Amino acid sequence: MGESACILFESWVPDAPELKIRFIGTVRTTSGSAKWVQDAERVPGMVKAVESWRLFWLLALAASAAICLGLPLADFHSARGTAPMILRSVRYALPLFLLAFTASSLATLCPSPLTRWLLRNRRYIGLGFAFAMAWHFSFVGYSIFSFGLSASGLTARGLALDLIGLVFLVLMTLTSFRWSARRLTSANWRRLHKTGVYVIWFVATYIYLNSLRNGLDAFRVAATSLLFAALVLRVVVWINSRSRGAITTSTIGGTST
Ligand code: HEM
Repeated sequence: MGESACILFESWVPDAPELKIRFIGTVRTTSGSAKWVQDAERVPGMVKAVESWRLFWLLALAASAAICLGLPLADFHSARGTAPMILRSVRYALPLFLLAFTASSLATLCPSPLTRWLLRNRRYIGLGFAFAMAWHFSFVGYSIFSFGLSASGLTARGLALDLIGLVFLVLMTLTSFRWSARRLTSANWRRLHKTGVYVIWFVATYIYLNSLRNGLDAFRVAATSLLFAALVLRVVVWINSRSRGAITTSTIGGTST
């Protein structure tokens, strides 16, 4: 009697979408025939209600509201007065980036309806991040256009990094739709999105590490720690998957250790 433990696929039951069936493998019966084994999980109703584009619009609206609440405190007559809005916008965008960046690792390390929901909706969370970053770019653009590049406090290296991050974010956003994703092979799509998330991670981490050199600030310390924690999570999952691959290969080769 043999048993395979891999998850083969997941599907929604058409007439009961809240019931998700997971086919977890095959079991060989005494007569030798294979039989599907399935388990079902109930996705919490509230989480189920907020999926895909509905989630995107909710995130876009929430981030915009949070950012706009800072408008009365800003002074758009100077670069200095505009700076709080530049920082505020990126601070409400980054949590969405962290969620999208860790969704797959969380679903692997702690599988649950919530982490699977996160993974399923990663695209919309990522688009929510891009939307919130559009506020950042708008305030930065306004500041540079009105008061000049030198008043923005950007160094040449910082500006170059920011622009690279911007290019990746735009490319990732444009290729997050079926009509545009079709123009790339799936391998190239994966390469672009994988490189893009690490570039954006690097840009944000570099900026925060740099700013910490000018003094400790609670928010910046927390943001830097979360960015590093997110990277560690991805590395742990990557190492686990590699060692699992190595064990499988050595078992198949008969050299299991
Ligand atoms: C994906 C691309 C980008 C990311 C991830 C990013 C991220 C950040 C972060 C994390 C901060 C610091 C926020 C804080 O201190 O809490 C910041 C500030 C800033 N960013 Fe961006 N940014 C990006 C693109 C850009 C671009 C393209 C520009 C300009 C061309 C720009 C201009 C600025 C400026 C002027 C500040 C304020 C610096 C200061 O006052 O200390 N950023 N950005």
